[in-house]
Amino acid sequence: MSITLETLSGEALRPIMADLARLRITVFREWPYLYEGDAEYEKKYLEFYVKSPGAAVVIARDGAQVIGASSCLPLRDEAPDVRAPFEARGLSPDQFFYFGESVLLPSYRGQGLGVRFFEERERYALTDSRAEFAVFCSVRRPAEHPLRPEGAGTLHAFWAKRGFSPLPGVACTMMWKEPGQVDETLHWLDFFIKPLRAAPVPQVLLQPEKQS
Ligand SMILES: CC(C)(COP(=O)(O)OP(=O)(O)OC[C@H]1O[C@@H](n2cnc3c(N)ncnc32)[C@H](O)[C@@H]1OP(=O)(O)O)[C@@H](O)C(=O)NCCC(=O)NCCS
Repeated sequence: MSITLETLSGEALRPIMADLARLRITVFREWPYLYEGDAEYEKKYLEFYVKSPGAAVVIARDGAQVIGASSCLPLRDEAPDVRAPFEARGLSPDQFFYFGESVLLPSYRGQGLGVRFFEERERYALTDSRAEFAVFCSVRRPAEHPLRPEGAGTLHAFWAKRGFSPLPGVACTMMWKEPGQVDETLHWLDFFIKPLRAAPVPQVLLQPEKQS
């Protein structure tokens, strides 16, 4: 097996957009995402990456086949829903680099590619931006969710080892349709952060949200 990694930006992503959409739809159908793939949404989502001059996607290939991908872009270029928790706290999106999804076909997991995805994105954020922090968000699922597979854990330990800490109370919402549902439903996603340079995490991200 000869796995290669390549970081692509802008129009160089266009020829593999269909591969990326297929990969996202396959992996995100599973727990905990439960996303019923939507080709139209995928097109719009991936267009953000093609259009953002600061965005990049790390592509993993086995020979010619795309078997994994991991994305990142300046928070400024992300959707309003994702920027909202930072802007609402008076923070400039320019301080943050947003790490999107990491998706890997199941048979390629457990060989260190997930770690490489983080390393490559951090290298990119450090060289191609002045962002002080990397952030990402992860879907929130209650412990008693009926579709939680037995023994399903979280990736918190994996992320902690990569230097990311949870930001309790800093969350955004996204709409998507779950398999078997008729309509899209609202999902909450919780943020994690890693300082990339010297700046400390802004206090406003560490304070519990005021209850109104
Ligand atoms: C998350 C994902 C990219 C990790 O990739 P991977 O190549 O299997 O991870 P690695 O082989 O680099 O593993 C690195 C570490 O994470 C741990 N790990 C990997 N997947 C894990 C999981 N599902 N649960 C708990 N720990 C996990 C490994 O045990 C390893 O631990 P170590 O650092 O102590 O040795 C991959 O499992 C995946 O595509 N999952 C489905 C999609 C997903 O959840 N994406 C993340 C959010 S978008």
